[in-house]
Amino acid sequence: MAAATNIPTHVAIIMDGNGRWARRRSLPRHAGHRSGVASVRRSVELAVERGVEYLTLFAFSSENWSRPREEVSKLMSLFVEALQREVDELHRNNVRLEFIGARDQLQSGLVEKIESAEAHTAANTGLRLLVAVAYGGRWDIVEASRTVAAQVAEGSLAVEDIDAETFAAGLQLSGLPDPDLLIRTGGERRISNFLLWNLAYAELFFCDTLWPDFGDEEFDAALAYFAKRQRRYGHTGEQMEAAG
Ligand code: FPP
Repeated sequence: MAAATNIPTHVAIIMDGNGRWARRRSLPRHAGHRSGVASVRRSVELAVERGVEYLTLFAFSSENWSRPREEVSKLMSLFVEALQREVDELHRNNVRLEFIGARDQLQSGLVEKIESAEAHTAANTGLRLLVAVAYGGRWDIVEASRTVAAQVAEGSLAVEDIDAETFAAGLQLSGLPDPDLLIRTGGERRISNFLLWNLAYAELFFCDTLWPDFGDEEFDAALAYFAKRQRRYGHTGEQMEAAG
């Protein structure tokens, strides 16, 4: 069980290792993604149980489009299927489901399911679950730059008034707190173009566990790791202690 205090408000997860999980069992990669859905479900339950308020999952990156066509197509079908199957249960648990990423790159069938799931759960007040599909951190920053440039061009924003706050208002996580904790499974220690702007001060927890094997033990280990960190945001340790 995680320490009851110092629970991160916002947890972000890079769910890696589905392909290797499948290969070790001589299964097709898709079997790993399919098995990964169970870990998604359990992570959502754990986030609710432990008191996390925001959970952001990296399900499909801008770069994942270059995977074999069959894998991409099966992943998209899996998203549709998982949405169909899980949305009522999420709703019953007061979870608000939202998607971030380049929606215009997705097939219309998936976009319809996404929009209907978002509308269905929009009034829920429990966990906010954000799923990143066709998302890239650089894409997000470029889009925010376009928003700011358009505001300047139409005269609603002066160049001197552009600051971190006005800029971040154009990002996908606009208005939400930045992730406090990033978890990455699957053994790699990199951010892989996830929330580049928003992860600026996140604590980073890497584990070797492959995503389909991720569960209570690893989630609680990540929370325990977070609970021990002293977050300084550029200040000294002494300053943070003095501020309590
Ligand atoms: C990375 O593992 C995983 C993905 C690119 C897909 C993640 C998708 C799921 C967990 C399916 C369900 C998601 C939702 C939100 C319903 P990898 O294929 O890169 O693994 P590898 O590094 O071992 O090859």
